[in-house]
Amino acid sequence: MHYEPRLRPAALRHDPFKALLVPRPVGWVATLDAQGRPNLAPYSFFNAVSDRPPMVMFSSGAGKDSLRNIEATGEFTCSIANWDLREAMNMSSAAVAPGVDEFALAGLKAAPSRHVKPPRVEGAPAAIECRLWKTLPLPAPEGHPEAGNTVVFGEVVGVYIDDAFIHDGIVDTGAMRPLARLGYMDYSVVTPESVFTMNRPVATVDGQSATLVPGPWDGVYR
Ligand SMILES: Cc1cc2nc3c(=O)[nH]c(=O)nc-3n(C[C@H](O)[C@H](O)[C@H](O)COP(=O)(O)O)c2cc1C
Repeated sequence: MHYEPRLRPAALRHDPFKALLVPRPVGWVATLDAQGRPNLAPYSFFNAVSDRPPMVMFSSGAGKDSLRNIEATGEFTCSIANWDLREAMNMSSAAVAPGVDEFALAGLKAAPSRHVKPPRVEGAPAAIECRLWKTLPLPAPEGHPEAGNTVVFGEVVGVYIDDAFIHDGIVDTGAMRPLARLGYMDYSVVTPESVFTMNRPVATVDGQSATLVPGPWDGVYR
């Protein structure tokens, strides 16, 4: 099968786009509205886009509270949603009215941040505190000028990691069991068993070839 997105074959019952671009991390975005009321929602069009300085992005459909709050206040946090918090994460995606606190709706507690006003999700294994850099409106779907997504770029100004997941100076990502969004209503989860390691290849001096470095990570970033 091979098709243009606007001519998706009827045999594909739903758009498979999100089932192909996987796994996507879930950015669990917390904001405050202009009155200081907390808001929480998961976003899987979410990722890191730079590490120096550390920057993230997420993409929001039109009219969502998180986007409006960030445009009003310039701040947000992204907590890492994990296996233990999966049902609360899902509940926090409910399309409730602006001003409804999804922390309370999902039975979650808010933990204070250090560098921004919006809190993080208490019990999440890690969270980042972000300052808005810029928003970027994406092209709207043909015939629906009101329905374009907007990308929010944020600079990470604070990082929280639950110390229980730091061993010998290394973050144990598998032990955090972070969720990954797939397509349809599917998810996956990173576990200690699903993590594997590969050293980067080393280019030969003449730059014409490369050799593999076998074995466990030797601690060198290449
Ligand atoms: C796992 C998951 C990922 C989601 N990712 C996105 C996304 O990337 N962009 C988006 O606009 N909505 C996404 N949603 C839907 C929003 O969470 C939902 O519309 C929510 O009500 C928005 O809340 P807000 O209006 O408080 O920001 C996602 C929902 C779930 C459960």
